[in-house]
Amino acid sequence: MGKKGFYVTTPIYYVNDVPHIGHAYTTIAADVAARFNRLAGREVLFLTGSDEHGQKVERAAQQRRLSPQEHCDRMVVPFKELWKCLEITDDDFIRTTEERHVKVVQSIFQKLYDQGDIYKSHYEGWYCVYEETFWPESQLMDGCCPECGREVEWVKEESYYFKVSKYAPTLLEHIKKHPEFVLPDFRRNEVVSFLESGVTDVSVSRTTFKWGIPVPFDEKHVVYVWFDALINYVTGAGYLEEPAKFATFWPADFHIVGKDILRFHAIIWPTMLMAAGIDLPTTVFAHGFWTIGGAKMSKSTGVIVDPNLLVEEFGPDALRYFLLREVTFGLDGEFTHEGLVRRVNDDLANDLGNLIHRTVPMMEKYVGGVIPPAGESTSLEEELKGLATGCADVVVPLFARLNFREALIETWKVIGRANKYIDEAAPWALFRNGDVDRLATVMNSLAEAIRITAILISPVMPQTAAKMWAQLGLSGFEKQRLDDARVWGKVPVGTRVTRAEPLFPRIEV
Ligand code: ME8
Repeated sequence: MGKKGFYVTTPIYYVNDVPHIGHAYTTIAADVAARFNRLAGREVLFLTGSDEHGQKVERAAQQRRLSPQEHCDRMVVPFKELWKCLEITDDDFIRTTEERHVKVVQSIFQKLYDQGDIYKSHYEGWYCVYEETFWPESQLMDGCCPECGREVEWVKEESYYFKVSKYAPTLLEHIKKHPEFVLPDFRRNEVVSFLESGVTDVSVSRTTFKWGIPVPFDEKHVVYVWFDALINYVTGAGYLEEPAKFATFWPADFHIVGKDILRFHAIIWPTMLMAAGIDLPTTVFAHGFWTIGGAKMSKSTGVIVDPNLLVEEFGPDALRYFLLREVTFGLDGEFTHEGLVRRVNDDLANDLGNLIHRTVPMMEKYVGGVIPPAGESTSLEEELKGLATGCADVVVPLFARLNFREALIETWKVIGRANKYIDEAAPWALFRNGDVDRLATVMNSLAEAIRITAILISPVMPQTAAKMWAQLGLSGFEKQRLDDARVWGKVPVGTRVTRAEPLFPRIEV
């Protein structure tokens, strides 16, 4: 029997620095997936968190003259606060320094050692502390880290190794049989060629610093931060401690990650799971990167976008909408302030805003501010109704592959059709001619279209959807389900609409 719940995760972010727009992007995407599945009536577990061990965090703490734990306790706050500002509805926030996680990591490390999948050896080679990654000499770029361009350090130490190579052939078979294991498709091809080129075992412990989970049977060693961090996904689902929860949510439906950490998630993590005898997640989805002026975001070059400032300027919903609408999830995108302003003006102030700000005042002027019953419908209403009530079924398969952009485009077709409907049905003329019955039908149909739109946009724009609901004078917004967007005629006749401030005032440029 399949598991019941829907489980989505973000990477757990390093707390060496404050969050930027890239971290916000992944977390918003996961939040939208979580909200959409709750809307569809599924039980959801949405996990995010912080990656607190390792040399990079230890050094950041040293620079601030704090103990690593104190540093983490302080640095986790801006992440948690940002998630609140962005309307993120994580069900759990895991910190890798928590006891529940330490236990699971030690137990898996021990198990793999006992069965011979972890063995003692020596590591000698290059290490990038910023990426917390071991690099073979052949992969360095001009002697530097190929991922971030920073200087690498020569590391020579005793180390435990995990037998990735033993499980790689089975993983390759699994990926070929389950192409949805890595999305988008072009990323899967990368993973497959990497696996086909042959993988080596990875070092999974360090001895030259202390800030990590102790290897349970060898106190000289701490667990390599990636081996520790990846395990958060099973700790968060209740592995070992909460078997009922684990059975409900594992395997994860989506690990959403950036393309930078795909190999850890699509190669090392699944081989660790195989060794531990745990089922593999359904999909690892690697999204693209946002650049600014063509450059990677980085504190050292000053190329950085602070999501807090964007939320202050535009509000959370506009930012959430922009990030998911502007670029197909999976591809890279260039972040510009002008691009964001253009989306707010064109899609939000114009299309969506106009629909509400034309309809509600017309209701007040033509039908006393009370939603009237619909009379006989014409082909105009039938078309609007068909498009609106059919939209849920159109977006379901899109959300199932995290194709947020297409899902928004489809939803905006309903908004576009409703705006056109106003022009075609011309309520002002009906009012002038005293065509009361027809006027009632038109007003009622617009209320329906807005109601359905509010439900459909709610995963991406929760605040806006709630405001639309309130302007229609409806209650029980939290109880709405996707099924409510599949039917027409649910607005209670006699509801009094409430005019409010524009949802998205036009931004002058
Ligand atoms: O890698 N565009 O943490 P991290 C889009 N702790 N997304 C971006 C981005 C950008 N320019 N920059 C960062 C780690 N991201 C590990 C993860 S998981 C078991 C351990 C996002 O703080 C993207 O999701 O460096 C990327 O994968 C992640 O932030 C890296 O966050």
